[in-house]
Amino acid sequence: MIPALGRSNSSSDDRQRVLDATDIVRLIGDHLALRPKGREFVCLCPFHDDHKPSMCVVPHKQIYHCFSCGAGGNAITFVMEYHKMSYGEALKFLAERAGIELTPWRPRRLVGAAGQASGSDEGDEEASETSRSAMLGAAKVAQDFFRAILARPEHGAAARAVLENRGVSPEMVELFQLGAAPDKWDGLVLTISAKSLPIEPYRATGLVKAREQGGGFYDAFRNRVMFPIHNQIGQVIGFGGRRINDADEPKYINSAESAIFDKSTTLYGLYQAAQAIRQSRTAIVTEGYMDTIACHQAGVRNAVATLGTALTAGNARVLRRLCDTVVLLFDGDEAGQRAAERAVEVFFTEPVDVRIAALSSHTDAKDPDELLKREGGREVFDRVVAAAVDPLELLFARIRANIGDAGLSARARVVEEFVARLVDLGIDRVDKVRYQLIIKRLSQIAGVDWETISGAVATRRARTSQRPTPAVEIEAKPLTAPEHLLGCILNDPTLPQTLVEEDSELIDPETFENGAVRSVASCISSLIIDEHTPSLAAVLAATEEVAVQRAATRLASEVDRLTEGSAEKLRRFWASSLDSARAQRRRLKLGPDPSSVVLESVADRLERIRQQRARGPNDQRAIPRPA
Ligand code: UTP
Ligand code: MN
Repeated sequence: MIPALGRSNSSSDDRQRVLDATDIVRLIGDHLALRPKGREFVCLCPFHDDHKPSMCVVPHKQIYHCFSCGAGGNAITFVMEYHKMSYGEALKFLAERAGIELTPWRPRRLVGAAGQASGSDEGDEEASETSRSAMLGAAKVAQDFFRAILARPEHGAAARAVLENRGVSPEMVELFQLGAAPDKWDGLVLTISAKSLPIEPYRATGLVKAREQGGGFYDAFRNRVMFPIHNQIGQVIGFGGRRINDADEPKYINSAESAIFDKSTTLYGLYQAAQAIRQSRTAIVTEGYMDTIACHQAGVRNAVATLGTALTAGNARVLRRLCDTVVLLFDGDEAGQRAAERAVEVFFTEPVDVRIAALSSHTDAKDPDELLKREGGREVFDRVVAAAVDPLELLFARIRANIGDAGLSARARVVEEFVARLVDLGIDRVDKVRYQLIIKRLSQIAGVDWETISGAVATRRARTSQRPTPAVEIEAKPLTAPEHLLGCILNDPTLPQTLVEEDSELIDPETFENGAVRSVASCISSLIIDEHTPSLAAVLAATEEVAVQRAATRLASEVDRLTEGSAEKLRRFWASSLDSARAQRRRLKLGPDPSSVVLESVADRLERIRQQRARGPNDQRAIPRPA
């Protein structure tokens, strides 16, 4: 077993047990649509604006890595990055998922980006983490409270009647954790004080509000059917509350955005629908809470809803990582048209097939909920979905109408306007097949030949190309020879044994400029000195810093890619990287006679480090000390 640097054994045990019980392919597969590719899996990277799969998941190493943005690490890193959790939260999440009980002890971060404990802003980060988890806790308490109220004979009666009238089944009440806010100003407030819970997290999530006069708080949701809104891992992050009395305004009250509730990336029902979305590779986006629930009840399990707003780019990103086709279902034609316009904008450059379906062209039912409750409604619903069209078609139809039988110059103007729009939408980034399809359709509709149109696109593009291209943060600086050496070691930890005397300084942490890489080198050195195997898994396990885990994974993955996973190629690559690192070092060494530079043997160097450590913490250099 590898010791955790600076962490107690119980927590390193926990970490190992959690990692052993977690299959990274299943974990990431629960969040993103994975495609098999050789011995690995690939997917769109969720950590940058990815348009072709650049992230790979490697089962035999239990890691993920993005070749574009450099994100990477093990299962714990993934959860930290994807859900913006702290190390402890991620560990807890994975433990719960695997049914493992953790040793009750709060882990502390130790290996910092430069091999030391991190600096001062850690305090702030911890404070905001606590308040985030306190807010999640508050939302959970509120959800349980609302659910309990729904079951109460008297206080829940009105809400139960609404749900019964609407034909919502008990299974759906359970699946969506529906509840009721009592018809009181202090239902939740009294519960909070009865349990002596701090009020602040409830205020921060918008569940209670401060009275304007006289102090104290009151319930924000009163006499409403409560729809908890969950994030992708099933935590409650907000609520929608539907009125019970028709006289109450507005019809729905929704939680405001907060530290735990980001509307632009949240879809109602995604937690419940994610599995079906992945399996069917299709998501159906409805307009309302009730519509989503009705879909699930009718067996359409891949339905979600936007939160009373138009679909955002954030929604699009979440969905395109889960599936290939997104059907936007609208109640009315007019809304559908407007939505199509917007959908073109939001989805134009996304590698997902988006389709628009309007209910009103097939039925007089006013929304999916009403339709699905009718006899034979499900068949009509399926027809509506099957008839969904590419939103571009709707735009083309409009162009066709605009052009009518206009003369050539009028046509040219319409085409030019449309071309301008396409360029603004980012036609450069659209895949080739789709690009050609768009140009072809446009040329058919306008009766203008293909070359003219693609020429117009090129001209327009040239004119606007001074604009900065959308920021995709690419860390993909090529690795240096010493970095390659580290990557080689992570892939084959026996390699350092082949180092000759003067080479040890090539992997000396202090020679690396990048702080995260320096920490990786420190970990490797420490593991070697302590006679542990400096494998990628060991290095990942030795640090809680995402940046360090990223760097280690990137070094290993880049080298693995260059050597195509072949042990023999790896050894050859190691030898040639050594050569170029040596040559570099010779170039860098100053002084007239390079041979006069005193080179330390590996044994000498290890001895020096051991002595330094023995001398105590004040004399430590870049090598972190194991506890
Ligand atoms: P609808 O008025 O269509 O409501 O609004 P609904 O979901 O079909 O509910 P029922 O069938 O009337 O009970 C669609 C969505 O718009 C948002 C909600 O998200 C709702 O689900 N909305 C609507 C609000 O946020 N506030 C409102 O006042 C009304
Ligand atoms: Mn409705």
